[in-house]
Amino acid sequence: MALLPVLEGLHSAESFHKAFLGAFFERAREIETHPASFENALQGRIIATVFEEASTRTRLSFEAAAHRLGAQVISVADSKSTSHAKGESLLDAARMVGSYADLIVWRHPRDGATRVISQATNIPVVNAGDGRLGHPTQTLVDLYTLHREWGSLEGKTVGVMGDLRNGRTARSLLWGLTLAGARVVLLPAPGLDWEVGFETRVLERSGLRCREVAHPLFKEWTGSERARLLEPKGLLQGSLFRDQVPRVDRLDALYLTRLQVERGAEASKGAYPGIRMRQMKDPLLEECLVLHPLPRLAEVPVELDEDPRARYFEQARMGPLVRQALFLGMLRPDSWPLPDLAPMPSGNPEHRLGPCPNKGCITLQEGIRVPWRVCGRKNRHFLCAYCDSKLMAEYVGCHSSKRVHPIHSQEVMKIRPENLCPFISRDDALQDGYQWGG
Ligand code: NCD
Repeated sequence: MALLPVLEGLHSAESFHKAFLGAFFERAREIETHPASFENALQGRIIATVFEEASTRTRLSFEAAAHRLGAQVISVADSKSTSHAKGESLLDAARMVGSYADLIVWRHPRDGATRVISQATNIPVVNAGDGRLGHPTQTLVDLYTLHREWGSLEGKTVGVMGDLRNGRTARSLLWGLTLAGARVVLLPAPGLDWEVGFETRVLERSGLRCREVAHPLFKEWTGSERARLLEPKGLLQGSLFRDQVPRVDRLDALYLTRLQVERGAEASKGAYPGIRMRQMKDPLLEECLVLHPLPRLAEVPVELDEDPRARYFEQARMGPLVRQALFLGMLRPDSWPLPDLAPMPSGNPEHRLGPCPNKGCITLQEGIRVPWRVCGRKNRHFLCAYCDSKLMAEYVGCHSSKRVHPIHSQEVMKIRPENLCPFISRDDALQDGYQWGG
C-alpha cells in the first residue's frame, strides 16, 4: 500500500533543511540589495490571502510581498464575511479559493488546517499560522534577521522565552534554530512548557542533546535558576564536577513571546516572563539581541525600543522581503529556484486508531479522519499527519507478511514504511487478518 502523496506548499518549519535555508538567505539578500530587479517577477499571478484569525503584520507583509513582485492579491481578512460563517467546510472553501488563485496563504485557528487545505487544491498553500502548531514563514523572518547580524547562527546561544505551550512562533523557531546550529536555552513561563514529545522529536531530528544549565536571571523569568539547553553533542564547556549545573554566561539573542490568551493560556499567579530594563545591564544580556514576533504586551518594555540591542521592529521589517523570496521560489522556480522543502506526507487515513487526541486538531472541527504518518529512528512513532500529535498505537502489522508485532520490537523497525499498519490492540490486528509475531 503506497502512502498518499506529499503536501504541496509550506506547512511546517519541520520541512526546512540546511540547503534550503542557505539558498533562501541568499535569495532574500539578493532581493534586499536589488529590489527593483524583482518588480515584475509575478506579473499576471494572483495570490489569495485568507486570514481566519487576527493579523496585522503577517497579512500585510504577505500582501506587500505580492505587490512588490507585481502579483495581484485577493483577500479575506475576516472569516465572518465568508461562507465559513454559513457552515461551509474547509475543504470546500479551499477548493474554491484554489480555483481563483495561483498560491494561497492561509491563517486558521486550528492545528494542521493548511495541510487539510492542501488536499483540496493543487496549488501551493503557505501556512501563515495554524493554531498553536506552526508559523513557518515567521521562522524564516526570525532566522533571516539573525543571519543578517551574524552570518552563521552556528554556536550562537539563543534563549526562547514565554508561552511555549501555545505559541506557534516559538514552536516553529525551535525547528529552525536547531537546524541552523544554534544552542537554544528554553525559558518557558511557569506551567506553559511544550509537550515532551515535541522536543524529543526535534532532538531526534537534529541530533542535539539536552542539558541543564543555570543562571540567576532565569529565576526572575521562569521561577527557576535552571533551564534546558539544547546543543550539539560535545559542545558544552564541561564543568569539572559532574553534578554541578553549568552556568550560561551570555545569550546572543533572546526571543520573547506573548501569552496566547486566545488559546486559553493563563499566566500562573500573574507571573509572565518579560524583560526589565535593569536586567539588560546584566552581563548575560550585554550583547543580547532582543527579538519578538510581535504584538508585544508587557514582556518587552517600550523603553527598550531605543536600545541598540532591540531588533523586533527590524524583524517585522524583514517580513515582506522574506515572503517575496518564498513566493519566487514557489511561483517562479524557472528563474529563482530554491531547493525542495523536505516533503510532508499527507498520511494514511486507513486505520483503526480512532480520532486525534489533540482537541485543537483540524480533523475534529471538520469531522474528517485523521491520517497517520510515521517518524522515529530508534522506535516508530505514529503521528497525526495534520497536527503532529502522537497517536495511540501499541502494535504494528506488516501489510505484506500479515504479521503483527508490539510497537517497540525490532521487527517493527524492519517493516518498510509503505507496509506499516498500526493498531491500538492486538485484537484489532487479529480481526483484520494479521497473525501474531513470527
Ligand atoms: C504571531 C502569531 O500570530 O502567531 N504574530 C505574528 O505573526 N507576527 C505571534 C503572536 O500573535 O503572539
